[in-house]
Amino acid sequence: MNEKDVGIAIRKAINDGLVTREQLFITTKLWNTYHNPAFAEIQLKASLKNLQLEYIDLFVIHWPISFDQITETGQKANVEDDLSEIQLYPRKEGKIMKQNISLEATWRVMESFVERGFAKNIGVSNYTIALMNDLLSYCKIKPFCNQIESHLYFQNTVLIDFCNEHEVRVVAYSPFGGKYDYGRNAGRSLFQDEVLTKIALKHNCSVTDIMMTFHRSRVWMVIPKSSQYKNLKNNIEFKCIQMDQQDLKQLMELNKADGRFNDAGRVFWETPVFD
Ligand SMILES: NC(=O)c1ccc[n+]([C@@H]2O[C@H](COP(=O)([O-])OP(=O)(O)OC[C@H]3O[C@@H](n4cnc5c(N)ncnc54)[C@H](OP(=O)(O)O)[C@@H]3O)[C@@H](O)[C@H]2O)c1
Repeated sequence: MNEKDVGIAIRKAINDGLVTREQLFITTKLWNTYHNPAFAEIQLKASLKNLQLEYIDLFVIHWPISFDQITETGQKANVEDDLSEIQLYPRKEGKIMKQNISLEATWRVMESFVERGFAKNIGVSNYTIALMNDLLSYCKIKPFCNQIESHLYFQNTVLIDFCNEHEVRVVAYSPFGGKYDYGRNAGRSLFQDEVLTKIALKHNCSVTDIMMTFHRSRVWMVIPKSSQYKNLKNNIEFKCIQMDQQDLKQLMELNKADGRFNDAGRVFWETPVFD
């Protein structure tokens, strides 16, 4: 959605001599509407154009769900159509329009992007252990990462352990619990959690320092989001806190069996992904 603006910023930073392209690691995702191999290529090329790049460092399958390609006027799209004319959430009689494309077919085209130099690395997101097992059985190029929900209320430890064991990097999304206004945990916030607040007070630091420290020992990358410069800066320069066994035990006990915030498949697309 914001690729054009990001592209302008990247180009300016490179032209002004602030960074070189090689110093940047830029990633984008393949949306559900473009799993069909012909459309996957169109989306990647459009993303590269928006970002003003020759190649992407990491291209990720966003969700293991494929949607149909339908234009804004309700017609079946074809590869000549302008990408902006294709609906991101195509629906018929209120139901999302899915398409039977195997994840293997989509992975094959992802692999071809690496072979043809459009992407340095390819990965997945929201893949379960079953899907990871399947992918590892047929991939020629191993997934660089699995980007998954992980925060104190939904620690996702079994999947993290599985990925670590199979040397697939874990990227933790919504690491502070995000800001979800849908699903069974809508409105629940880690920022108001009493246990977390007490541990932060004990160490004279912020709750985000505690959360970042917790994640960094478990996963390869943590990707908090902020709309505020000061928070962005704090998240990059977070204080790594020396926690004791009791702190860690209390943090681990915050995990909840139904703690997942982002269940978009179940809530919006009538396709539960995680069950
Ligand atoms: N792969 C996927 O399917 C998927 C799904 C969801 C999210 N993601 C990605 O994961 C990233 C983060 O996820 P998210 O936005 O859902 O959740 P998040 O990073 O856990 O939480 C964002 C919230 O935390 C607040 N925040 C951030 N830093 C803070 C700080 N230092 N102090 C106080 N508040 C702070 C933000 O408010 P302010 O803006 O006011 O700072 C915002 O309300 C995003 O880049 C997103 O694209 C991926």
